[in-house]
Amino acid sequence: MVGEFVPSPVDPVDAGGEFWRRYHEFRRVRQKETRPDEPVRDDADEEARMKRISPFQGDDRYEVSRDGEMLGLLHAYYTKPESPEYESNKHLYDADLFVRGANRRRGIGSSFLPVLIDLMERRNSTTVSFWVEEDAGHGFLKWVGAEVKLNEIESRLIFSEIDWPELERWVEQGARRSPQTRLEIIDGPVPEEEREAFSAQMSVMLNTVPMEALDHGDIVVTPDTMRDHYERFDLSHEVPHTVLTREADGTISGITEVNWAPYRPAFIEQQFTGVRPDARGRGLGKWIKAAMLLHIRDLYPATEWIGTGNAGSNAPMLKINRALGFKQHRTGTAYQITRARSSRGR
Ligand SMILES: CC(C)(COP(=O)(O)OP(=O)(O)OC[C@H]1O[C@@H](n2cnc3c(N)ncnc32)[C@H](O)[C@@H]1OP(=O)(O)O)[C@@H](O)C(=O)NCCC(=O)NCCS
Repeated sequence: MVGEFVPSPVDPVDAGGEFWRRYHEFRRVRQKETRPDEPVRDDADEEARMKRISPFQGDDRYEVSRDGEMLGLLHAYYTKPESPEYESNKHLYDADLFVRGANRRRGIGSSFLPVLIDLMERRNSTTVSFWVEEDAGHGFLKWVGAEVKLNEIESRLIFSEIDWPELERWVEQGARRSPQTRLEIIDGPVPEEEREAFSAQMSVMLNTVPMEALDHGDIVVTPDTMRDHYERFDLSHEVPHTVLTREADGTISGITEVNWAPYRPAFIEQQFTGVRPDARGRGLGKWIKAAMLLHIRDLYPATEWIGTGNAGSNAPMLKINRALGFKQHRTGTAYQITRARSSRGR
């Protein structure tokens, strides 16, 4: 029934105990439905993350709740003017929407659309992106009229299946093919004095990641955005690890990052991997990935698997990952729709 559900704004900073109770119950329901083999973050850490106001990303949240039970939640986010990415990203909005399984097809999902359009109008954003992994999400986004813009493959590598001697060979070959290049391992945040050079190379590499048809802005990493990123990790005690290659002139030519967290000790999240375009074709990608996995095995013997996501069109990264033994676990799709084209939210 149109108009039956009216979303209300959520302000994590001022939210009371009753909100947190229904929110934590809701996110557990979601996790059980969508990622049942992954543990949820601790309640206190989750609250700290949601209460933290990011200097670079703005967050809006709205809920539909009945009788003390959260039925649906919208999290919409955008790039703040303070962000170095603002100029090329200010037209974009991101939305994450979830309605619990038992309450779907009652108009709760669509009740968030006028709110979303209103938020976008207020910030002059023209395009919103949605990330979809489940059939219901695909059905909903098609109804919304959004278009598929990027397909991603999420893969997992099971540690007990890794061919470790092969990885050791990759490390030896990498060093042999590039005798002037040094491999460095950083446990924890990249040291502050390194961040200027590191973030400059990260920005170059990140902007070479295939984005398929996605309308996207530039990715700009700076020492300030790195600090923000690490502060966010700290709130749930996540530990970053970085392996990089450095050329004879000091230039960082390859980077791979993962993170570990105490609430999910059985698995590692792969973050970014990149090799500078002018250093490709020398086996640096295989070298850094193999060196990272060998390092993780020694550091965290309880690791069972590592997960990663790559655009379906990212042939070089997928090839390395498949050679390591990564297998497709699920797929995800980014949809986008412009405010001008959306008729469902009005
Ligand atoms: C996507 C989601 C939020 C939709 O919530 P919802 O409350 O069921 O949505 P609505 O009832 O407002 O659906 C509106 C219309 O979308 C379409 N739709 C919704 N779910 C659908 C499905 N499973 N299959 C096909 N069409 C669907 C229908 O046309 C529906 O209208 P109708 O029921 O009158 O036919 C919900 O399914 C969900 O939480 N999915 C998992 C998370 C997700 O994928 N989120 C979206 C991306 S961020």
